[in-house]
Amino acid sequence: MSHSLKLLSLLADGRFRSGESLGRELGLSRGAVWKQIQRLRDLGVECHSVKGKGYCLAAPLELLQPQSILASVDECARNLLPDIEIHQEIHSTNRHLMERLGALQCGHVCLAERQTAGRGRRGRPWVSPFGRNIYLSLYWQYSLSPPELSGLALAVGVAVAEALHTLGVEGAALKWPNDVLWRQRKLAGILLEMSGEAAGPYHVVVGIGLNVRMGAGPADEIDQPWSDITSALGREVSRNQVAGILIGALLQTLERYQREGFQPFRQAWQRYDAYIGQEVSLQSPGETVSGVMRGVDASGALLLETANGLHTFHSGEVSLRPKVVDPCC
Ligand code: BTN
Repeated sequence: MSHSLKLLSLLADGRFRSGESLGRELGLSRGAVWKQIQRLRDLGVECHSVKGKGYCLAAPLELLQPQSILASVDECARNLLPDIEIHQEIHSTNRHLMERLGALQCGHVCLAERQTAGRGRRGRPWVSPFGRNIYLSLYWQYSLSPPELSGLALAVGVAVAEALHTLGVEGAALKWPNDVLWRQRKLAGILLEMSGEAAGPYHVVVGIGLNVRMGAGPADEIDQPWSDITSALGREVSRNQVAGILIGALLQTLERYQREGFQPFRQAWQRYDAYIGQEVSLQSPGETVSGVMRGVDASGALLLETANGLHTFHSGEVSLRPKVVDPCC
């Protein structure tokens, strides 16, 4: 374990520890402890230092631990999980797995306390401050063709919504294709990256960013309405438990998709559909189409009822159309 990680676990409960006692436990001089505190600050961890009292974290912190995560993985999924790797800091968990496709076993999980270049959909960054949320990537291999994989991102959305339900979050909803919302605010984002030859197999990296306790400072960088599990539940939650429940739901979903495709997930997706039966706009490069959201077809394509009938769409950005209020009413 690195010095900074040991220091973090000594300070994790949020209480003051003197530089002297920290130095004793770490086998470091007081000056070297101070340098390690600086290293934590560089990672984005807020630390206070008070003369005569020592050091403490601005808020208690629960670090991710493989054994604690494993304890929350559904028993039926444990045999689908070969390995969990946890990084204190990494550019992007998705990029890390995409660069190692040939060396990974199906079900391999990578988590990070912080991402320095978290990737979102459509080239957007994913804000990933230290120790606050879940940044997770999971590798899976399919012997399905690309058209057969078109509903996979939606099935993953259902897995995330169900994991949230297990955690006690009421009212999580999906915005096509797979944004996870709570009260119209983004709670989680899903990024699937794929690679493979036409003859297969297909390598898939499922990336999930799930806000647990975002905190005001880092949130300043987010350019859309957001929420986190702590707000949705109205209480603190263990990140290890969140990660374990999420991993269990994902593994079972990815394995079932190999056998049954999108079909068994379609109804559940529609139950979680944030906009079903509502007026929406679908924006894609060059055109905007308006209509009533009618769910998804058997492949996961969006069904929109427009003025001239029911149409399917395979890409675009959905948004709710503001309700026009009749001034006479
Ligand atoms: C979105 O834009 O909605 C998708 C966000 C996906 C973010 C996650 S965080 C873990 C994984 N690693 C990344 O770099 N991105 C995904």
